[in-house]
Amino acid sequence: MARRRLPRAVFDYLDGGAEGEVTLRENCRVFEDITFRPRHAVALEGCNLGTRVLGFDLSLPFLLAPVGYSRLMHPGGEVVAARAAGAAGTAYILSTISGHRLEDVKAGSRGPVFYQLYLMGGRGAAEAVIERARVAGFSALVVTIDTAVSGIRERDYRNGMKEMISGGLLEKIPFIPEVMRHPGWLIAYLRDGGLPGLPNVIVPGQGQMPLVDINAALAKAAVTWADLDWIRKLWNGPIVVKGVLTGDDARRAVDAGAAAVSVSNHGGRQLDHLPASLRALPEVVAAVNGQAEVWMDGGIRRGTDIVKAICMGAGAVLCGRAYAYGLAAAGEAGVTRAIEILRADLDRTLRLLGCPSIAALDRSYVNVPKSWD
Ligand SMILES: Cc1cc2nc3c(=O)[nH]c(=O)nc-3n(C[C@H](O)[C@H](O)[C@H](O)COP(=O)(O)O)c2cc1C
Repeated sequence: MARRRLPRAVFDYLDGGAEGEVTLRENCRVFEDITFRPRHAVALEGCNLGTRVLGFDLSLPFLLAPVGYSRLMHPGGEVVAARAAGAAGTAYILSTISGHRLEDVKAGSRGPVFYQLYLMGGRGAAEAVIERARVAGFSALVVTIDTAVSGIRERDYRNGMKEMISGGLLEKIPFIPEVMRHPGWLIAYLRDGGLPGLPNVIVPGQGQMPLVDINAALAKAAVTWADLDWIRKLWNGPIVVKGVLTGDDARRAVDAGAAAVSVSNHGGRQLDHLPASLRALPEVVAAVNGQAEVWMDGGIRRGTDIVKAICMGAGAVLCGRAYAYGLAAAGEAGVTRAIEILRADLDRTLRLLGCPSIAALDRSYVNVPKSWD
């Protein structure tokens, strides 16, 4: 449905990955390497899907990942995604690249909301947004460390994503017929006032950063371990480090005071040929050694994927595209439906496995290839 509703440039921005999309494909495929070891002839009337994350009791073991430009997918964007997450009893992570004000996103949800931080606009902009997030009631900062520069997403180049966002009228002309083929999206977009800005990136002395060249802004926004120490001093709440793929980085994150690390290759959108997140998870779980929470994201499309990730040691997972397709297809109702599909999958999978709860899952419920150890 998302593919039908969105112009190609927007759909491919959501669906695509970096370069040859090897990591994007591998993130999903790798789940096939793991099979289940069920406990049959166990009668369960319903399973407990609850999980504790950063001190919050969530009804589900998955959170909604930060997805930039959500407002391009649907005018409700980040506000309705956060609302759907809260209504389902889970948490929402708001991207720095949000078209809605962080205060509106927080006010719209009854669940916990975390803020994903890029250093776009430099430390001055970060300091201002951290203070706004604190005042608005955000519960954690999620610092993404895998975006030293933006990955090259070749579909975006072919589809004229840059020209659509920042080009002049002449540059846009070749891409206009494709947009006209999606009148439902176009009318909603124009009614919403056209291209959203970046209301949470306020550069001191310059004001709100316009949404002109995100890649150029990201290239100057690389987060270092020194920045993490600086962020730690500004933010009293929990910090999550997102984009960890090795035991070494996991240890550094824990030493820097992270309450959780998220094993992630950014959904295959940054460096291609990174290992699938699930494959990198065991090394990180071993390195963290219980000193912080370990989450993972990348390739989650079904409840069985979530169950396998948790069996392999993740405390919770983040879903990106799985809910963003729903958002693009039908706004809030679409996100709610995507969450419901995953919830029903989880309940069915646990019952077929003979496992009463997410908390009871461990490696004894899966066969892991010998080469993984
Ligand atoms: C369209 C899109 C935009 C994204 N924007 C961000 C972002 O702004 N910040 C961030 O940390 N991660 C971002 N991500 C990565 C997701 O948070 C998450 O790591 C990834 O989507 C997980 O893979 P999955 O889509 O296979 O679930 C984005 C992902 C997508 C698909």
